[in-house]
Amino acid sequence: MLKEAESPYRTIRVSAEPSGFGAEIVGPDLARPLSKDQLAEVKAAWARHAVVAFPDQPLTLDELEAFTLQIGAFGHDPFIAPMPGHPNVLELRREPDEKATNFGAGWHSDWSFQEQPPAATLLRSEVVPPVGGDTLFCDCARAYEALSEVMKTMLAPLRAVHSATRAYGVKGVFARETEKRSLQIIVSPEADKSLTHPLVRTHPVTGRKALFISPVYTTGIAGMTEKESQAILGFLFQHMIQEPFIYRHKWREKMLLMWDNRCTMHFAEGGYDGHLRLMHRTTVAGDRPA
Ligand code: SIN
Repeated sequence: MLKEAESPYRTIRVSAEPSGFGAEIVGPDLARPLSKDQLAEVKAAWARHAVVAFPDQPLTLDELEAFTLQIGAFGHDPFIAPMPGHPNVLELRREPDEKATNFGAGWHSDWSFQEQPPAATLLRSEVVPPVGGDTLFCDCARAYEALSEVMKTMLAPLRAVHSATRAYGVKGVFARETEKRSLQIIVSPEADKSLTHPLVRTHPVTGRKALFISPVYTTGIAGMTEKESQAILGFLFQHMIQEPFIYRHKWREKMLLMWDNRCTMHFAEGGYDGHLRLMHRTTVAGDRPA
């Protein structure tokens, strides 16, 4: 935790994880427009810590949308039906009797298969189960920095192939699903398309480099054979999810979490069968990875 005297912030209080990856922010009331200074400090803390939690924020959907727009324009959420009357809000609801695997149960960076994947995702907890339901985050910048210089040089020119096919494609996980699910998934041939992004991207705000790949959406490395791709990606995925690079987020009700998809990947843990979990999610548009 940062000591008050060392804090670079005047309008918010920030308690960071010892690693610097992940922090809690108190002070702002996200239901109202933030002052220019407060917004600048929230953005600075978010750039510094990548995953920031705001406890005790009992927001309406309109207020969640309004705060999202203070961070940036809405991103585009494909393959999932939005909430009626709120085209930019997804309701992540899992009922106590649902047997389908919980949504997000695989390491990924949101919508990385888009030309311009979202910079931020905001997730607000409405109902939190008494057990399970944590969200894990991987610090893809620190994971990159821990690689040898030889490995960094090898990765520098590579482009990774991203696609939604394994999840939302016509032969993907959701197409084969038989269990009922509250979330309305839209399986589509659009999901079988792919594109490439730099395997290592540079954060447009901090200038830090980060691995920009994930087991869910990265299907290969451009120009390499399947075997070569899987060997390199397999090594990198194992490397990235080592304990020192992980922040485990424990939810409390009415908490808003904002993460940076440009330098993190995340994994929604289950373990709460028999309990309701209800969250609302928005995304903020991002740049083309470079
Ligand atoms: C997700 O956006 O991947 C879901 C995260 C969560 O429900 O914890």
